[in-house]
Amino acid sequence: MLAAKSTNITVAEHAVTRDERWLANGHKSGILWFTGLSGAGKSTLAMALERRLFERGYRAYVLDGDNVRHGLSADLGFSPEDRAENIRRIGEVANLFAQAGFIVLTAFISPYRADRERARAIAPDFFHEVHVKAGLATCESRDVKGLYAKARAGKIPEFTGISAPYEEPLAADLVVPTDRMDVTRSVDLLMAYVERKLAL
Ligand code: ADX
Repeated sequence: MLAAKSTNITVAEHAVTRDERWLANGHKSGILWFTGLSGAGKSTLAMALERRLFERGYRAYVLDGDNVRHGLSADLGFSPEDRAENIRRIGEVANLFAQAGFIVLTAFISPYRADRERARAIAPDFFHEVHVKAGLATCESRDVKGLYAKARAGKIPEFTGISAPYEEPLAADLVVPTDRMDVTRSVDLLMAYVERKLAL
């Protein structure tokens, strides 16, 4: 992993405590770490949940794979090493958002268990693993972005589910089976989870 290059650094204390932020917001903060195949519905559910949370007065923000890869991770591809670095960066950013009082919804394939466990280890008290679960056949038949067809044609190397692995969570905190639940019901399930786990 990353070799730390910074030396002679200390930790500055914030003048606002985490509990003060939670009290001001009316809820705890946390990271809902969505994982699943491309096309399983991670971005759709994260964006719909963000909307629902916003309307109910929660402070929430989505970090989305495709969006983050336009900026923060623009220098990274899809090799196992680059995905590990992508997930490490998101883990760190998600932790900062959670420290700031937000409910962070991260929507990344994050196909490797070890990478997800490292993200959990960055913020163990905040981290909730959410498996957005749909089988490969379902995701491929949806093919929202046309990427499965390209991958099958050999035009995208290391495509998750086709030519690169997806390691399913072994003990996700929440499973959302999107192949048998529509968006509204899925968001209901997620909302109930948030209300249960992140209430003050
Ligand atoms: S992750 O593996 O590092 O977590 P991430 O979620 O950021 O992936 O990005 C996945 C998105 O990148 C997919 O939704 C898809 O649009 C695009 N993509 C491009 N190439 C690949 C690839 N080889 N494998 C998976 N997704 C890819």
